[in-house]
Amino acid sequence: MLVDSFGRVATDLRVSLTDKCNLRCAYCMPPEGLDWLPKPELLTADEIVRLVTIGVERLGITEIRYTGGEPLLRRELPEIVARTAALRPRPHLSITSNGIGLTRLAAPLAEAGLDRVNISLDTLDREAFARLTRRDRLPDVLAGLAAADAAGLRPVKVNAVLMRGVNDGEAARLLRYCLEQGYELRFIEQMPLDAQHGWRREDMVTADEILDILNKEFTLTPDDPARRGSAPAEIFLVDGGPARVGVIGSVTRPFCGACDRVRLTADGQIRNCLFATEESDLRAALRSGASDDELARRWIAAVRGKRAGHGIDDPAFLQPSRPMSAIGG
Ligand code: GTP
Ligand code: 5AD
Ligand code: SF4
Repeated sequence: MLVDSFGRVATDLRVSLTDKCNLRCAYCMPPEGLDWLPKPELLTADEIVRLVTIGVERLGITEIRYTGGEPLLRRELPEIVARTAALRPRPHLSITSNGIGLTRLAAPLAEAGLDRVNISLDTLDREAFARLTRRDRLPDVLAGLAAADAAGLRPVKVNAVLMRGVNDGEAARLLRYCLEQGYELRFIEQMPLDAQHGWRREDMVTADEILDILNKEFTLTPDDPARRGSAPAEIFLVDGGPARVGVIGSVTRPFCGACDRVRLTADGQIRNCLFATEESDLRAALRSGASDDELARRWIAAVRGKRAGHGIDDPAFLQPSRPMSAIGG
């Protein structure tokens, strides 16, 4: 088991498959992109499957989420999904994606064993989308969502990061759209994880503000908190339900105390927290011939050192040197 010094058990592994992305969301990357990891530094598909296998067979991992950057850009994604779906006990498999490419990939991924998808969508206005992501791809994202739903990758969850003056006026429209389509929308507080280090607390639309905005047009009532478990989203029933909306208040309503996550970066580092200041280099160990036992030992040690929380409110808080796209969302 992967237990930290506060008694939290990591059962949810988030694996970044690439740091590359075909969008340039303003809260994530600069327009010119980033210095991508050189190919030899990326774990190969075999290396990923080996580490995931150790996680599932020896360390109690039950949930695996493939992320990026944009995970659909990794050519071997269907193969990686199929090989990890064959593990026993079979892990639950999902991806977090921007949705571009799902019209082609949703069906093969479902066939390979993918269970569900979370898709980022911050606006339904084509021009606002092109401004925010610096790419005119809104129709591809909407088609990708529909393809995921049609392929049975349900519940289809939609992630929207709200930004003041950019898309906060669109919250109700996004919710109406997702309710119509049967997608589960979650609004997310922006975290200090952008490559440009431009995050400012005053600019963040807080969970309280998000609820105020939504309550102007809908009546939200908290869902049974017992059902939340370790999930980051607080769920609200919309107009009495069964329609639902989530709010992920990572900054003002941290869920660190119940965190069950651990991350594997695309270059083979174990990160015990999104905001960790240290990583544990499993790739170096793996490439120098470490046994499965040795890799498992290093992984256990890496999780043991996990801090109590993200510490964003701590005056000494330092944003991680790696941005979200390199850590894995
Ligand atoms: P499910 O609820 O299982 O569908 O997934 P999820 O919401 O955990 O995953 P997703 O990749 O869709 O992430 C949504 C948002 O959750 C991200 O934008 C982050 O804001 C937040 N998040 C995910 N993992 C962490 C984490 O380890 N720590 C913190 N603070 N926030 C996280
Ligand atoms: N703060 C909060 N969420 C973010 N995401 C990307 N960058 C940030 C950030 N700085 C979201 C994406 C995606 C998920 C993995 O994280 O929109 O849905
Ligand atoms: Fe790409 Fe996701 Fe970053 Fe947007 S937030 S640029 S979709 S990695």
